Amino acid sequence: MARRLISLLFILASTLYSMGVDKGNFKTCEQSSFCRRLRGMTAGESKYKLDLNSLQISDNSIEANLLNGDVKLKFTLTAINGNIFRIQVDEANPLYKRYKPQFALKGEPQVSKLSLLERSTDSVSIAHNSDKVVLHAEPFKLEFYHDKELVSVVNGRGLFAFEQYRKKQENTNDEGQETQAVDDPGMWEENFKSHHDSKPKGPSAIGMDISFPGALRIYGLPEHGDKLPLRTTGPGGVDPYRLYNLDVFEYELDSTMALYGAVPVVYAHSPKHTVGLFWHNSAETWVDINNSKDGNVMASIVNLVSGSKTESNIDVHFMSESGLVDAFMLMGPSPKDAVKQYVSLTGVHPLPQYYTLAYHQSRWNYNDQDDVTTVVQNFDANDMPVDVMWLDIEYTNGKKYFTWDPVKFSHPDVMIQNLTTTGRKLVVIIDPHIKRESGYFVHEDALANDYYVKNKDGSVYEGWCWPGSSSYLDFYKPETIEYYKDLYSLETFKGTTHDVYIWNDMNEPSVFNGPEVTMPKDCIHHGGWEHRDVHNEYALAHVYSTFHGLMKRTPNKRPFILTRGHFAGTQRYGIIWTGDNIADWAHLAISYPMCLNEALGGISFCGADVGGFFNNPDVELLQRWYQASIWLPFFRAHAHIDTRRREPFLFADDVKNRIRTSLRLRYAHLPYWYTLFWQHESAGEPVIRPLFYAYPTDENVLDVDNELLVGNSILSRVIAESGVSTINVYLPGGPNEYWYDIEDFKLYHGTGNHNIPVSLDKSLVFYRGGSIISRKDRPRRSSPLMRNDPYTLYIALDSTHKADGYLYVDDGESFAYKNKKYLYIHFSFEDNTLTSELVDKTDYPTTEWIERLVILGPPKGIKGAKLTSKTFPSVELDTSYSNEDRILVVRKPGVAVREKFSIKLH
Ligand code: NOJ
Repeated sequence: MARRLISLLFILASTLYSMGVDKGNFKTCEQSSFCRRLRGMTAGESKYKLDLNSLQISDNSIEANLLNGDVKLKFTLTAINGNIFRIQVDEANPLYKRYKPQFALKGEPQVSKLSLLERSTDSVSIAHNSDKVVLHAEPFKLEFYHDKELVSVVNGRGLFAFEQYRKKQENTNDEGQETQAVDDPGMWEENFKSHHDSKPKGPSAIGMDISFPGALRIYGLPEHGDKLPLRTTGPGGVDPYRLYNLDVFEYELDSTMALYGAVPVVYAHSPKHTVGLFWHNSAETWVDINNSKDGNVMASIVNLVSGSKTESNIDVHFMSESGLVDAFMLMGPSPKDAVKQYVSLTGVHPLPQYYTLAYHQSRWNYNDQDDVTTVVQNFDANDMPVDVMWLDIEYTNGKKYFTWDPVKFSHPDVMIQNLTTTGRKLVVIIDPHIKRESGYFVHEDALANDYYVKNKDGSVYEGWCWPGSSSYLDFYKPETIEYYKDLYSLETFKGTTHDVYIWNDMNEPSVFNGPEVTMPKDCIHHGGWEHRDVHNEYALAHVYSTFHGLMKRTPNKRPFILTRGHFAGTQRYGIIWTGDNIADWAHLAISYPMCLNEALGGISFCGADVGGFFNNPDVELLQRWYQASIWLPFFRAHAHIDTRRREPFLFADDVKNRIRTSLRLRYAHLPYWYTLFWQHESAGEPVIRPLFYAYPTDENVLDVDNELLVGNSILSRVIAESGVSTINVYLPGGPNEYWYDIEDFKLYHGTGNHNIPVSLDKSLVFYRGGSIISRKDRPRRSSPLMRNDPYTLYIALDSTHKADGYLYVDDGESFAYKNKKYLYIHFSFEDNTLTSELVDKTDYPTTEWIERLVILGPPKGIKGAKLTSKTFPSVELDTSYSNEDRILVVRKPGVAVREKFSIKLH
């Protein structure tokens, strides 16, 4: 009976799951009492004042009491390495400890030197490199200057708020307690009792306004189904951007509603300056934006009366439900600097395995082990490359993770071997909810050892997810992490091998019957923290545990984990995708800005379900989706269980041909992608970049988000318009910036808009003149089979007939690269001569060689070329022009990439 009820509820949940967004499920700011309270504050003079009598200045920081009536806070401003300021506010005498995220920062930020410039009775100025901060005491306000220019103001609008925990009886305003705090501390350890031993603690929200004078646009705050530049919130009922990891199915576009991930960083930008703000807080957060360009009424009146134009300005207001004020001002001054400053705090993606950049084939679900094997055979039979097969939840025995369905997946070892003998890998899904079924070892162990998240009364929390009644592992407890790591061991997760990687889904966490489809905020984690404090970080704690599990299982290979929930710092352990999108044109279009904002938030390794998760794409949409997604870092097709099968080999020949072309183009560029990820790990630059990042002074690119740059050499324009015959592409950089269409090698200048004819066979991708791109153009069935293939160097000349580029090579899977087992090669072309040299004194014994040079925009009248290297002291090479003389091909240099060489055209 109980079983039947469970399966009925499960069916209900799955049906609901595929019915579309129910806005009523999710709160608006008005319905969230802390957001309502903080947003309701009127801008004006702040009641807070810095007590300069309490001021203490050290080499790196400045400290003072921040007062408001009887409220006494501790304010600290610290200089951080790399032109960053850290602003921290805590209670001076806290009744309860306030939460600070534990997983987001890659380590304690390195402090740097600041110096006192000036001190008066009502202000203090300090300097750090070419930046200056003026601290105004009353009202409390901070002004940040770069090279004498005011670039940011904190609390200029007086919206700073810091609700202090109070004892119950002191609580005048209890309305912040939607699903509030702790009643019975009995079951927690002593240290927790000491700060949670009373009745509900009352509201504890914090808020801070930051203005960016002179800024024209502001970007960031992933994850939202919205455009790249953030919109003005407020007017017309636009809610603040909400950061609260949620499972919002069939999510809406052009919306500030919360989604699966939350990365609280913004970048305010103008052609003169970029400055960022990282709000290090994992509680539910809302962010209001006001960009003066969007019709600030007061500004317009002033303009009208004075006949002048007031300077542009962007106001931001962060509001979080609990935790501390811990904000980092990223002083720029360029977008590149500001993003680097952010990743200097939260880290980078470590270099992934090579195969992870290849094509991934997923659906919910492959029916059984034979299905998996057959799909791969069909890819092979159709000469379409694929590297990774994915298994969704149905592979498990009754949604019990770390087990296999005994009938459909009776021999996972054989299935995996079928994959690996052809160089493929398998990824399986593991969600954080655990089926409450007696006899299920994970559940039994979790109960016996106290690994689950608790209700406020200390009992184990139960919620509904795929398995029916479930409990949720508490990744805040060190013992849980240790236990969880071992679940991935080959002894425990039987049937898996070292070639199996992991997909952590539903980890917002998703709870079908929970408030807003997630865990109640008054659930309790290890350390006594309420779920409200850690919510946005829970998925990161999950992925952190999985990462260390894979490291323990397979210590000599780089882990690969896809996660849906994410937070600042997730990039150090996993990669993300944009969740349950829809098979329509708008969702194809939004995949670029969504991943671009993630990349600015440190998470470059991002993709969207190719073809759309819900519904069935028509073939035009599907083809365009493949064409566009080969230029996003994570390239995986995935689909809902109710959709028709759509593996690319299932279509008519013309469709197959186009998709095959896209797949091959992706594989040809794998060396380029891989090199970018190496550069990302070493230098912190995003792998994909919005145009404004690379062309910060061009005002025309501020809103461009249907184009992206892969590294600094490739520009792709998504075609998300149906039935089009021409497309407008904006090519940046000015008349001397050259852009070559990578299909017909036609040259365009970076003079702005170009109307370019397109057929279904045509995608819009350009190489930037001045780039050398290393490709592997021989079609293969999977990336490991390309290991020893030779390179073709595409040399796209700039207006001065020069170009350069890099190639990174290592074993593609181990950590040997950390011990100098790699090649990092710099190619440059100048005076009609290509030369190569190793950047670092390292070596990797590869047999790869150079098969061909393709010179775009070549010099005229070339008759041949001469190769010079140690092995080939002087070899004449054939050359020929083609594509209406748009390219010059140099045939068969045959020189090893390890060898220093030069090739001179003559
Ligand atoms: C939700 C994920 O977003 C989706 O990709 C997956 O197929 C389902 N969960 C089932 O696991």
